[in-house]
Amino acid sequence: MAYGAVVPPLLEPCAPNPGRMRVKYPGLLLCAVASWLATACQEHERPSYLSHGVEAASTPVEFEQELEVPPPPFTEGAFPCSDCHDPAIPPNTKRREMKLAHTEIKLHHDAEHRWCLDCHSAENRDKLHLASGELIDFTESYKLCGQCHGDKARDWRAGVHGRRSGNWDGHKKYLLCVNCHNSHAPKFQPLKPLPPPIRPAPRTSS
Ligand code: HEC
Ligand code: HEC
Ligand code: HEC
Ligand code: HEC
Repeated sequence: MAYGAVVPPLLEPCAPNPGRMRVKYPGLLLCAVASWLATACQEHERPSYLSHGVEAASTPVEFEQELEVPPPPFTEGAFPCSDCHDPAIPPNTKRREMKLAHTEIKLHHDAEHRWCLDCHSAENRDKLHLASGELIDFTESYKLCGQCHGDKARDWRAGVHGRRSGNWDGHKKYLLCVNCHNSHAPKFQPLKPLPPPIRPAPRTSS
């Protein structure tokens, strides 16, 4: 296997001088070294939030166009958040129990590693933010979810997960992930089984 074919572009960013290495069996060893370094590289470059409990398939998803979605499921009166969260008041970034407001929110979503401001913008409370810091609207929350749940977001985009509707060869409509999953406690809640239908009374001839 040619050295050049294995090494760049995977290795370039984290191995400063791979061309200098000397080994007796370049093909074999370099393959091993390259794959080891490539793994090391990926581990090094993957943001840490991707490595907690989420499968390897979860690389972030790119969404090339705006998708048609329903409005986010806000409680009445909750939005705009900036009604209360005046940008002039410095946000409290400390992890704590909510006491003055939002007491109904209990984080059960990787809570050990997460805090509110990992998703909600500290400076502009009417927006969410991605890991890059880019602000997004609540109508684009699937981009946020897709950063950690790439496999599910890809399925969702393709219509395999989450009830897509519309024309098979044309315009499609999507539900937001948060239309089905509570963003703060996303585990899909078991549905309560309904009672069986009542057996109709036997017909009597009239
Ligand atoms: C994983 C990302 C994420 C985290 C972490 C998170 N949120 Fe949210 N939050 C969202 C998204 C997305 C929405 C919009 C969808 C919705 O209304 O549920 C939302 C909605 C809300 C709302 C509006 C709720 C309503 O009833 O309309 C409030 C208030 C809120 N979050 C506060 C918080 C607080 C406080 C925390 C920390 C204890 C927190 N969030 C943690 C993503 C997150
Ligand atoms: C009725 C006023 C009110 C509205 C509307 C409101 N909040 Fe809050 N929010 C508060 C108060 C008060 C706190 C501080 C709670 C505490 O420290 O116990 C808070 C705290 C938070 C926090 C924790 C971090 C921080 O800055 O203290 C987040 C995140 C948050 N709110 C998100 C939201 C989002 C998102 C919305 C809109 C969907 C929203 N809030 C709407 C009053 C409000
Ligand atoms: C920063 C990374 C991150 C983001 C952003 C994120 N999640 Fe998660 N999510 C996780 C991790 C880690 C777990 C597994 C740990 C857990 O269940 O607490 C998880 C678990 C889940 C689960 C499975 C829960 C269960 O117990 O089976 C669902 C569903 C889910 N997330 C949906 C969402 C939705 C919807 C969004 C967008 C509003 C979102 N996630 C955003 C990291 C993230
Ligand atoms: C139409 C409703 C719906 C929508 C929209 C939806 N989901 Fe789900 N999701 C479900 C159901 C139902 C399950 C299965 C729950 C179960 O098996 O316990 C699920 C399961 C999951 C799980 C857990 C999978 C596991 O292996 O345990 C994750 C993570 C998840 N969804 C993420 C997302 C993300 C991210 C989006 C948006 C891109 C999304 N979902 C959109 C209904 C939905």
